[in-house]
Amino acid sequence: MSLLAPAGSGAIRYVAARKLWHLEAGPVSYVIGVNEKNELQSIYWGKRLWRDDDLAAAHSNPEWASFDNSGNTTPQEYPGWGGGRYIEPCLKVTLPDGVRDLVLHYVSHTIDGDTLRIEMKDIAYGLEVTLAYQVYPESGVIRKSAVIRNRTSGPVTLESAQSGAWNLPRGEGYRLTYLSGRWAGEWQINREPIHPGMKVIESRRGNTSHQANPWFAIDEGSADEERGRVWFGAIGWSGNWRLSIEQTSHQQVRVTGGFNPFDFSYRLGSGESLETPPFYGGFTDGGFGEASRILHRFERVNIMPGGATARLRPVLYNSWEATEFAVDEAGQKALAAKAAKLGVERFVMDDGWFGARNNDRAGLGDWTVNRQKFPNGLGPLIDAVNSLGMDFGLWVEPEMVNPDSNLYRQHPDWAMHFPDRPRTEARNQLVLNMAREDVKNYIFEALDRLLVENPKIAFLKWDMNRNFSEPGWPEAPVEQQKELWVAYTRNVYEIIDRLRKKHPKLEIESCSGGGGRVDLGILSRTDEVWTSDNTDAFDRLRIQEGFSYAYTPKAMMAWVTDVPNFNGRSTPLQYRFLVAMMGSLGIGGNLNKWSADDMALATRMVYLYKSIRKTVQEGSLFRLFSPDAGTFSATEYVSGDGRQAVLFAFRSAQDYGYPPPVVRLSGLDERAVYRVKTIDRKLTGGLETVSGAYLMNRGIDLRLGGDFDSTAVVFERLE
Ligand code: GLA
Repeated sequence: MSLLAPAGSGAIRYVAARKLWHLEAGPVSYVIGVNEKNELQSIYWGKRLWRDDDLAAAHSNPEWASFDNSGNTTPQEYPGWGGGRYIEPCLKVTLPDGVRDLVLHYVSHTIDGDTLRIEMKDIAYGLEVTLAYQVYPESGVIRKSAVIRNRTSGPVTLESAQSGAWNLPRGEGYRLTYLSGRWAGEWQINREPIHPGMKVIESRRGNTSHQANPWFAIDEGSADEERGRVWFGAIGWSGNWRLSIEQTSHQQVRVTGGFNPFDFSYRLGSGESLETPPFYGGFTDGGFGEASRILHRFERVNIMPGGATARLRPVLYNSWEATEFAVDEAGQKALAAKAAKLGVERFVMDDGWFGARNNDRAGLGDWTVNRQKFPNGLGPLIDAVNSLGMDFGLWVEPEMVNPDSNLYRQHPDWAMHFPDRPRTEARNQLVLNMAREDVKNYIFEALDRLLVENPKIAFLKWDMNRNFSEPGWPEAPVEQQKELWVAYTRNVYEIIDRLRKKHPKLEIESCSGGGGRVDLGILSRTDEVWTSDNTDAFDRLRIQEGFSYAYTPKAMMAWVTDVPNFNGRSTPLQYRFLVAMMGSLGIGGNLNKWSADDMALATRMVYLYKSIRKTVQEGSLFRLFSPDAGTFSATEYVSGDGRQAVLFAFRSAQDYGYPPPVVRLSGLDERAVYRVKTIDRKLTGGLETVSGAYLMNRGIDLRLGGDFDSTAVVFERLE
């Protein structure tokens, strides 16, 4: 399926005679109906259908003996927990009088351009739900969310509030792909059959988490990178989330997602409402490769700040691995001068510049410049960086406090805690209760002051280096204390949104000890993310591949650092550069230790990167050989206009003297001729110009051998 073929054409149609909505999202159709019981029923999700007359009206399935009523045998679009339904509900509530039965029926709908809103209401109580569906015709992605409204006269408690459920065509043999990990080992790809029962992937940690990511893909058991139906989705939420992948006893596979119901409770007073996070879903019959390309493009165009017109990510330098907490004006200026020589465009000073931050035991919370390290404030360093032709960025970790800080001494109650219970520290720090209005306002003002006093700060790396513990909110009424999980994330979002509004040129990187806060919620308000604290280039190949299943390389920050690193492994500088150049390039090594040869190679690599970065950051990515499959891996990027393609190839080890496999390229024009440029003549046959047909069918042979060998080849299309 071509991503672009039906691009832009999309429509939402209501087929009144059969009470159906046909959501046409470019290459995808999604169909919902109202059945004879007035329930909302999922009808179809897959490749685009063009004939509304083919679609029959929704009709519920019969009960299965006395054990499964039709609510369990019929694909439910947004089921409440009630009426004898045992499938995972989208909404579970306790009504003001203690009733815990919720049966939602269709009331009305409106279609407004690319958005459909369906109103539902409980059969007896004033508990209302508005389901919103937005179609993105360019990609076929559909966004679901729900607003839950209490129109009864008393308080309602929500025990589970999901954004929506995606029903797949009834059947068996489906396979789930999802991402898991841990600190410094994020983005591991898992693939397993879906069996009857429920698989839950989730975060209970307060942030998106390293351990699992709110993304899924489901195929029919045999899809590969190029072929096969793949249904995929992602939740846009950086707090506790949950995906429940369920196969019912009636062969119905459904994926329900939204706020994690674990330790969740949300009280809606009369007249109040709660909006769920967005849950995005897409479909392709072009395999996992196309599923990723759809998401990459969707994220760049429809999610990330600036959309299609956002600028390319600059090459950055980050001081963390070079200087850790030992930052000062002279040292940072020296690093900046070296970074500038390499062609770096943004210099970022990491941790250590504020309060009493000489190690990780003190200072978090005190967002004032450390005057021993920077006697004249940050101004002289920023000016020096700017005069070297780079912009300046700064690390912050706003949500945290060290007990050894002025902030904690003044406001010990601001840290998340339960009264008279221990406060569990991690990296010597506690989490501020950002759900509190006063804490939120204080943090906004501290960051705003920093940016007002230093208007040339162009970039913040916003870190979050631990998960929640003792998530108490003693100041709130007991029945509302669990709302902390939702209010915290909302308030973090609000601070970022307010800062960006007030400082429109500011760019932000989302970091949480590496990739602990990467999702479509934070991506809609930050320009890039820190992929992982693990910068070992060999590990990175797999980390970056996992990342690429769900997220665009444009957002994927990748640094070149020094070796050995993490695994005691040493890899050549070119290998490290080429790995990092597959995303948004950064350098994080200690430049004071780089030799003249290292500096020369780095300068050439940064120069090369600038000539291919549009293709890498905004092109189409093809995973040709997975680093998980063997000792050889290759990834290709093709620019949006088809004029440039870049191949990165890596060999971690050579065995039995074999050369690497033939590499067939993807995404080129068979009729076109390309000029070939290698960085180090590792392409056999002396090809100078070559046709797309040859590259995609015969393929090329690379001379890669030994340990940790690498190369890149650039193909420029001739007129
Ligand atoms: C986290 C980040 C690192 C670095 C340190 C600083 O671990 O992921 O990149 O900023 O904090 O303390």
